[in-house]
Amino acid sequence: MVDQKQLVDNQRGLLDRSIYTREEIYQQELEHVFGRMWLFIGHDSQIPNPNDFSLTYMGEDPVILTRDAKGEVHAFLNMCMHRGNRVARADDGNAKNFMCTYHGWTYSNEGKLVSVPGLQEAYYGELDVDKLGLVSVAQIDTYAGLIFATWDAQAPSLEDYLGDARWYLDNAFNRREGGIELIGPEKWVGQFNWKFPADNFSGDNYHVHINHRSAFMARFGSGNVPPLDVVYNPDHGYSVSPGQGHGIATRLYDTEEQFDIAFNQLGDSKILIDYERSIRPEMTKRLGERNATRQQGIVGTIFPNLSWLWPQVNGTVRIWHPRGPLHTEVWSYVAIDKAAPQEVKDAQRRFSMVSFGNSGIFEQDDMDNWRQCTESGFSQVGRRVPQNITMGLGHETTHDYLPGPLLKHDITESSQRGFYAWWEEALRAKSWSDLKVTPKTAKYEGTATFKG
Ligand code: FES
Ligand SMILES: [Fe+2]
Repeated sequence: MVDQKQLVDNQRGLLDRSIYTREEIYQQELEHVFGRMWLFIGHDSQIPNPNDFSLTYMGEDPVILTRDAKGEVHAFLNMCMHRGNRVARADDGNAKNFMCTYHGWTYSNEGKLVSVPGLQEAYYGELDVDKLGLVSVAQIDTYAGLIFATWDAQAPSLEDYLGDARWYLDNAFNRREGGIELIGPEKWVGQFNWKFPADNFSGDNYHVHINHRSAFMARFGSGNVPPLDVVYNPDHGYSVSPGQGHGIATRLYDTEEQFDIAFNQLGDSKILIDYERSIRPEMTKRLGERNATRQQGIVGTIFPNLSWLWPQVNGTVRIWHPRGPLHTEVWSYVAIDKAAPQEVKDAQRRFSMVSFGNSGIFEQDDMDNWRQCTESGFSQVGRRVPQNITMGLGHETTHDYLPGPLLKHDITESSQRGFYAWWEEALRAKSWSDLKVTPKTAKYEGTATFKG
């Protein structure tokens, strides 16, 4: 067990650097964070048909996500109950059964052990096949087409776990009838602790115009990069901490004209900007007028492993799979409205890949910074001084329209404070009964609310 020394001082905005590098912390994270929280495991569009399956991970555990013949969704540990081989190996496909390639035990896509070679002859008919189905997740549920699961039967409902984050998820993933589809993933392994990208996407907008400045200049032309005093003083930015470690950065403009101007700065692709304008009437009906025509999502993280960026125009979705304290396997998808015309889907895929594909001009900037920040946890001297996440401390407030505790600035570290405070609580909790879930406040104006 991790010793009792406090790791996150949320009152003062200080963080122990060793949380990224210590093996015992990592092992406890696998058990208490990845073993207990609701984790994002896939999207409806990845298994659209009966008997579809898709492989993923929950923490380091390999998982099969299946849709059975009746259309019900399941998730199982991808581990043969005999000696432990993986029973499914293709990344995705369509199969009623999964046969282990070692000795041939075969499981249905509902997780039942349906065939054992030599059951009568070699096992003398004595094997209790009913008790040897695949290990199932304890709970599985969807929100706006996003599929989440947890290994913990005590975890609160997905709706309570997401809390007010649901409102922002709708804005990102539930804009049109049919929701989104995910294209991808691209996969790569980075030399950084999983918490760095998750915290970055929860709302580290501070880094954007330093870390990515040269990429902005290359992408949009040096004359179109705003000066830093403008960047650090945005009129319309908000950093939302809806609880449970989730963090979301967004902008809410006063008028649709301001919203349009902001959109024009996002990209030079006329086809995408025209598309965004064309879908606003439908979005207004589904999400409410202000949400659809004045709210521009920037980034977000659903604790611990799902992140997204620029849901309008760009649509990058991430899963962070921990691979030891010092490595993270990144799965990167492009999210596209299912109902969009094909030329819009193509344009968005290209725009997203150029920017945030694994060799995208923005993507490459972040990773070496995350590696070096992670490695500061190894420094004997560095560990004597805490990491500083004090920006905006004490300025948290609420808003009459945007749900959730927030800070009226999108350049702040309030999301990081929310992320790490929950992380330490989750790490130390003996069970879910030690954890306090933030009550939801969101009031929905549209029709695209729960369970898209
Ligand atoms: S390990 Fe799967 S059948 Fe033996
Ligand atoms: Fe970045």
